[in-house]
Amino acid sequence: GNTGQLAGKRIMITAGPTFERIDPVRFVGNYSSGKMGFALAGECARRGADVTLIAGPVALKEGRGIRRIDVESCDQMYRAAVSEFGGCDAAILCAAVADFRPDSVADSKIKRGDSDLVLRLKPTHDIASELGRMKKPGQRLVGFALETDDEQAHAMGKLERKNLDFIVLNSLRNKGTCFRSDENQVCILTREGMTEYPKKSKEGVAEDIIGRLAEIM
Ligand code: C5P
Repeated sequence: GNTGQLAGKRIMITAGPTFERIDPVRFVGNYSSGKMGFALAGECARRGADVTLIAGPVALKEGRGIRRIDVESCDQMYRAAVSEFGGCDAAILCAAVADFRPDSVADSKIKRGDSDLVLRLKPTHDIASELGRMKKPGQRLVGFALETDDEQAHAMGKLERKNLDFIVLNSLRNKGTCFRSDENQVCILTREGMTEYPKKSKEGVAEDIIGRLAEIM
């Protein structure tokens, strides 16, 4: 089988959502469960890779032998990813990173009132783009895309802009997949073409994705 196929390879994976603080008790977040990223980490470890999992706030336990770094915000995930990537052979960016964070974080709990509360949001770092700029010959970079319209064209644009080797497209059109689900249905796009995969458990999808990564490592 492929048990020792990735022995000696160092692979970094980002997983889960990020939470962007509003005040000491509130945040801006999203529905990502982290299941897909944890399944990818498990599959890499099963094939013998040395795995670093950078996890946003999730209620999951990592598989045996996986080195886990817990973070909360995009800024923390960015710093961890940038400092780890240099020592890695590949990175898989599976996290649903917040694209915006509150411009200012209140020191104490914001009180309810009768007038509107306006939150100004600032764009966060794009971790994938930064790693795409840092990428050295021989390093591999894999991204994810979640699109609601013109999916393939948008995913292909991200592959180019972020300097990825391939991108995994999940569609919100597939019912019972994606966020919080145990199943996923994906399509892998490379510069050469696209492969569609059937709906499977996230562990099954992880096998397909890591199979493709192993081919190019
Ligand atoms: O541009 P978009 O957010 O759709 O790109 C998705 C890909 O970029 C995913 O691989 C995601 O993990 C990564 N990403 C990131 N940092 C961000 C936003 C997205 O690494 N701030």
